[in-house]
Amino acid sequence: MPVDTPHDTLAVDLADPDNFLDGETPWRMFDVLRRSRPVHWNPETDGGGGFWSLTRHADIVAADRDQATFTSEKFVNLEEVDERQAAIRRSMLETDGPRHLALRRILAREFTPRSVAGYATFLRGLTARTLDLALAKGTFDFVKEVAADFPINVLARMLDVPDDDTEQLIDWGNRIIANTDPDYADVLLHSAESERYRDLPFRSPASLEVFEYGRELAARRRGGEGTDLISRLVNETPRDGEPLTERDFDNYFLLLVVAGNETTRHAITHSMRALIDHPEQADRLRADPDLMPTAVEEFLRWSSPVYHFRRTATRDTEVHGTAIREGDKVVLWFASGNRDEAVFTDPHRFDVTRSPNDHITFGKGGPHFCMGAALARLEMRIMFEELLPRLADIRFAGDIRRVRSNFVNGIKEMPVTTTLA
Ligand code: HEM
Repeated sequence: MPVDTPHDTLAVDLADPDNFLDGETPWRMFDVLRRSRPVHWNPETDGGGGFWSLTRHADIVAADRDQATFTSEKFVNLEEVDERQAAIRRSMLETDGPRHLALRRILAREFTPRSVAGYATFLRGLTARTLDLALAKGTFDFVKEVAADFPINVLARMLDVPDDDTEQLIDWGNRIIANTDPDYADVLLHSAESERYRDLPFRSPASLEVFEYGRELAARRRGGEGTDLISRLVNETPRDGEPLTERDFDNYFLLLVVAGNETTRHAITHSMRALIDHPEQADRLRADPDLMPTAVEEFLRWSSPVYHFRRTATRDTEVHGTAIREGDKVVLWFASGNRDEAVFTDPHRFDVTRSPNDHITFGKGGPHFCMGAALARLEMRIMFEELLPRLADIRFAGDIRRVRSNFVNGIKEMPVTTTLA
């Protein structure tokens, strides 16, 4: 039986996005929970009925793999969604069973390591251009000039959308997903006004614009020969034989736009920040570029850009002797699993040589394992392969500002000053 230490009396509230603003408190809370309250009930004051937090690596992995007990169908964010809303808003992320597999398989082949390797040359060119423009400025916001637009540019290429539209895609992505941050969201998630948008993904009015945009592209590509993601979505029949409805298409398209955009951006920014904070690790990487694939896994573990995804218990069950009732929300804190001392030696140490590195940044072994994992890995590897040799020095030039969210572990501003190599 774990024993509470005085430190463990720390008040824990993982529902309040304000607790995530300093970038320190959540990690302390996770430490406490893993140590002494591995199945922890967290009340919610903003309209939700509360949730269970799973914070240990093994418990998260077990729940992630057991979709019969821990379903995604009742939605995967903390917001409670009724049956009607769920039916309207559901994408593959919120679908279990054969339909989930059928939806996933339409595009899964486009995201295998082998398929995404086909983008390496494009990515290297894009990275070089991005870095040359940014580094020429000397002092700049790393998020804005380097990390922000990079992932969506790749996706724009996969969707085959015109270059001129990428700015718009970026803006939509920001407004939709950071729905608890007043700097981004048009309508804050817990505001009274958000009730009007309860049938929209993330309760964001911006998603209507994304739907309209996606539908126009779909109409133009239906029946064509294109091999881009949109053409595949509109021209392929899922393996279960059930064609995509317009709503299926809307939600699939929107998922693609939001899923890999902010996440990869924050992974890159956190990794840069870690290398500035630990210059000896940057030196190791410069001295041994073959370390990069190993380092990327540590970048992913360290950055944990997604704090959590949620499941819902389909039946009464028990974890570590704690009763969880059918219908209870159960939150898998992937970020906490990535600091679990039972799996990682010295988990709060950033170590680009760490191996093995069994992080759960993309989930682990479950049906919803991130479909874009190979793409995110490739983007990060190429980014740092191109960045490090160009830099003689990089340091912070101002305060770091974080996204106000307990879902996305995001940095929205990170001023740096660089000296070219
Ligand atoms: C570092 C960057 C990324 C992180 C940390 C990340 C994280 C995750 C996680 C944790 C899940 C599992 C959701 C769950 O268990 O309910 C997921 C699912 C997903 N991700 Fe990513 N992701 C990243 C990049 C990408 C990229 C580049 C794409 C490409 C568009 C992408 C597309 C998806 C999709 C489509 C799913 C849903 C898979 C399913 O439901 O079967 N992600 N991601």
